[in-house]
Amino acid sequence: MTQDLDSIVETARRAFAQAATPADLENAKAQFTGKAGRITELMKGLAALPVEEKKGRGAAINVAKQAIEAALAERRQALADAELELQLKAEALDVSLPGRVREPGGLHPVSLTLERIELIFASMGFDVADGPEVESDWHSFTSLNNPPNHPARSMQDTFYVDINGEDGIPYNLRPHTSPMQVRYAQQHVRKYAGGEMPEIRVIAPGRTYRVDSDATHSPMFHQCEGLWLGENVSFKDLKVVFTDFCRTFFESDDLALRFRPSFFPFTEPSAEIDIQFQSGPLAGRWLEVAGSGQVHPAVVRNMGLDPEKYIGFAFGMGPDRLTMLRYGVNDLRLFFDGDIRFLRQFR
Ligand code: PHE
Repeated sequence: MTQDLDSIVETARRAFAQAATPADLENAKAQFTGKAGRITELMKGLAALPVEEKKGRGAAINVAKQAIEAALAERRQALADAELELQLKAEALDVSLPGRVREPGGLHPVSLTLERIELIFASMGFDVADGPEVESDWHSFTSLNNPPNHPARSMQDTFYVDINGEDGIPYNLRPHTSPMQVRYAQQHVRKYAGGEMPEIRVIAPGRTYRVDSDATHSPMFHQCEGLWLGENVSFKDLKVVFTDFCRTFFESDDLALRFRPSFFPFTEPSAEIDIQFQSGPLAGRWLEVAGSGQVHPAVVRNMGLDPEKYIGFAFGMGPDRLTMLRYGVNDLRLFFDGDIRFLRQFR
């Protein structure tokens, strides 16, 4: 190779080495082997040479061109390798990071309570029933002997739905589970029509709604209705059943119960049920856990039964309240905030 070709190859090598990116490199390449590159120019110049010189010169230029192309290919590879290296570094996996563990789930504390209530009452021969949360006016109020001007029917206490029922009165979000007394009894009556009807013994747990919100009231809360109706069921049976339930639920025989006279339109007589722990942080305080009473004759009639023949009791308790007492939780809202740190404790 002649002197000038050597120096062109050398210049090209240096230019390629200086190219920091693939784009720079392609620009540098254009100066040598591109359309107007120095090698290309030399090739064009061959035509003007005498025949005897053409062959040797042409071969020399080709050697130089190949050398430049080899240097180019080498630099291209080097740049590509460097880029890959950078990318790998950026995407590096830290294998020492802890993995994403899928933790075992658990039931909500109120669900745990509902499950417990169902188990205990099932063991006493109670059926477990489910009913609609969007209720008709008749089921929520009228069938339960609630007079038309009763405050429970007002917009301040009850959520109404923008759809009218068959009676032309808007549906409501049931403010208690008591409509299930009538629903279940009617079903029971239909089921045994014409035959011998066994006693009605049922609980109906579920969601209920009221326009209410503070540390002990939530617009959505839970209730569990209970109904025992037969030809010879008395208030004494209510006391036995509910006392048994409370002692089993709280796993304590050291529990006092008090039936305090009260009023509900659908029971007569009516009583609030209070419990008192004898030990522990709540010892000595009377805590209200349920409303109860002997089912009112008007309600028995609305069930499709003869109040002269059928008698019994009903109760409605608050599973949210029972959960608070069992676990020592002092703010009801914690149950419905969905804070995983709170809920995790019950797993
Ligand atoms: N439904 C009543 C309430 O919401 C509770 C209750 C149920 C009272 C059954 C008596 C009998 O407070």
